[in-house]
Amino acid sequence: MHKSIVLLFVIVSLPTASFAEEAWFPAKDMMTAGVYYYPEAWPKEQWPRDIANIKRLGFEFVHMGEFAWAFMEPEEGRFDFGWLEENVRLAAARGLKVVLCTPSATPPAWLVRRHPEVLMVDARGRRMNHGGREHATWSSPVYRRYVERVVTEMVRRFGANPAVWGWQIDNELSHYGRAYSYADPDRDRFRAWLRTRYGTIDRLNAAWGTAFWSQVYGDFDQIDIPNPDELVAGVNEHALLDFQRWFAEEAADYIRFQAGLLRRNTAHQWVTTNFMHLHRDVSPPLSARDLDIVTWTLYPVHGDLGEGPLGFRLGDGTAISFMGDFARAINGHHGLMELQPGQVNWGSVNPLPLPGAVRSWILRTFALGSELLCTYRYRQPLFGNEQYHHGIVGTDGVTLTRGGEEYVQAIGEIRRLRELRPAAPKEPAAYAARRTAILYNVDNRFDLDNHPQTSRWSTMGHLLGYERALKRLGAPVDVITEDKDFGPYRFLVAPAYALVDAELVKRWRTYAENGGHLILSARTGAKDRQAHLWEGPWAAPILDLIGARIEGYDVLPAPHQGAVKSALSGKTHPWSAWAEILKPGAGSRVLARYGDQFYAGEAAVVTRALGKGTVTYVGVETETHELEREVVRGVFAGAGVPVEDYPDLLFVDWRDGFWIASNFSSSDQPAPIPAGVSPVVGSRLLKPAGVAIWP
Ligand code: GAL
Repeated sequence: MHKSIVLLFVIVSLPTASFAEEAWFPAKDMMTAGVYYYPEAWPKEQWPRDIANIKRLGFEFVHMGEFAWAFMEPEEGRFDFGWLEENVRLAAARGLKVVLCTPSATPPAWLVRRHPEVLMVDARGRRMNHGGREHATWSSPVYRRYVERVVTEMVRRFGANPAVWGWQIDNELSHYGRAYSYADPDRDRFRAWLRTRYGTIDRLNAAWGTAFWSQVYGDFDQIDIPNPDELVAGVNEHALLDFQRWFAEEAADYIRFQAGLLRRNTAHQWVTTNFMHLHRDVSPPLSARDLDIVTWTLYPVHGDLGEGPLGFRLGDGTAISFMGDFARAINGHHGLMELQPGQVNWGSVNPLPLPGAVRSWILRTFALGSELLCTYRYRQPLFGNEQYHHGIVGTDGVTLTRGGEEYVQAIGEIRRLRELRPAAPKEPAAYAARRTAILYNVDNRFDLDNHPQTSRWSTMGHLLGYERALKRLGAPVDVITEDKDFGPYRFLVAPAYALVDAELVKRWRTYAENGGHLILSARTGAKDRQAHLWEGPWAAPILDLIGARIEGYDVLPAPHQGAVKSALSGKTHPWSAWAEILKPGAGSRVLARYGDQFYAGEAAVVTRALGKGTVTYVGVETETHELEREVVRGVFAGAGVPVEDYPDLLFVDWRDGFWIASNFSSSDQPAPIPAGVSPVVGSRLLKPAGVAIWP
């Protein structure tokens, strides 16, 4: 290669990813706070006032452009970005950074009328219409062409603007309550994906097990999207699993498509999309390389009862922890793109959050390492579908709501922490020693939810049981996927890991042999990756590893409960969702046995040494997940790692030199602050929704 070309190449590739990331999310800032603003909904005379107030309240960035396609391109090919340019200018003049959002979630009326083929079709065959959002299918080439044009026009105007910090793609990529699109472009792209995956129709027939009810296909063109609303007697599970995989990959493909459009003309701006909290139709890890930061949306209070008398006003601290631990592990950068600021409008019942809850969610996501925090939304809308949705300011557009006040308080607290942050914070050794990975694969969730076998089973509920147990023991958790190395973790939990192959089981074995402590739970290894049962004993490939046979599994109709007795504590725990009857081999130790039913006395939990490590198999899910906590605690104890004993729903994590404790329970809890240390935020006694932070 010619010398000058080499030099040019070196210069062009200098701003490496890590260089840019450090500039985007400086460690010393820890978490940067912003707010959604929709200028197109407010009189332009109010823009300067609103932007000035956003700055005055302490926000550091403003998020705009989402859902505004009809204002950016009022007629086909006629673009108007003047209003947005004006607002970016106002923000920049006040020293606010700007996050722009591509408007693809809301195609304008002219587009839909002209090209109804871009619209999604629901499971009952009804074409959706203009007037809502996420009603186009991202498999439509026509739709993608229009998206490409408007995004390219946006980037042309804002891609080099130094005030623009980053970009969000679309919004909560999903079709909300309609879940999937069954339109022709979806079917065509699904068929093409199947052709690539299987090559021949015979291979597809084998994978889908179509030698059942004469489902067999003669050609890929005979295949439709498996649709429960069109079938008299249930969907082929293997076809459904593949469709769900395809859908998640298609969404990732669409994110990649938009990320590509953005990157083509932006140099110093980051790219993200806002994934929905815990949702499963799309799979964030598929976008790990396409996004500079993984962000998600969080609305903890919308009518769920939660835990304890105040649970409905506090939200689910375990689920928040799981999602934060998941988002962080995807590519190392993560943040919250939307957070409920008060009452919302779209739940079954939309109560007021407990005073303090909004602040506690902010500080909880801070504790989980969030680098960005954006609230949804600045002003309460006076019209439209979300009229009853609180904002940072109320209906007059200027008065802080309670949630707004809590935001201002929390932003002030983060600023104070920035001043106190040590230059090189060092994770406390005792905390680091407990670091545990939870292994997650959305395919398991697809499969188990498609075929739960009992209405009392919840795959997510099962996973959250382990998150909760680990958090009570004071363990930092990373929710990881199989592309990650298990080696750095001394503890690895794979809950309900239904779909396995020989290679994964071998990785688990090597992990334990090398000194890792592996915990597998109920339903693990029952099927191959195509969700077929094994020709052999139940969960055949994991039996050698766990040192036991699985003789059978039981489920109980409500209100029946079974009993399982722990050898670790002597306590008896109720179960109702799932129980496997284990036959331990020589070398396995039984940690719990069933206390009733016709299999009383049989093993429910077994453990064994393997090489330098251990393998523990928990065949039962208890109602309270208390047995699971005992088992995890026992594994830590066996490894010589001391644990904490935090009260249920008190969450304590460490970040950047600070301990942060958040009380999601309905009663007062003392914060575990060592004697002689004073909290820098909050107090020693935590009321429900209370938070304390200490160095
Ligand atoms: C989110 C959505 C936002 C807004 C919000 C209201 O799920 O991403 O656009 O609708 O809900 O709570």
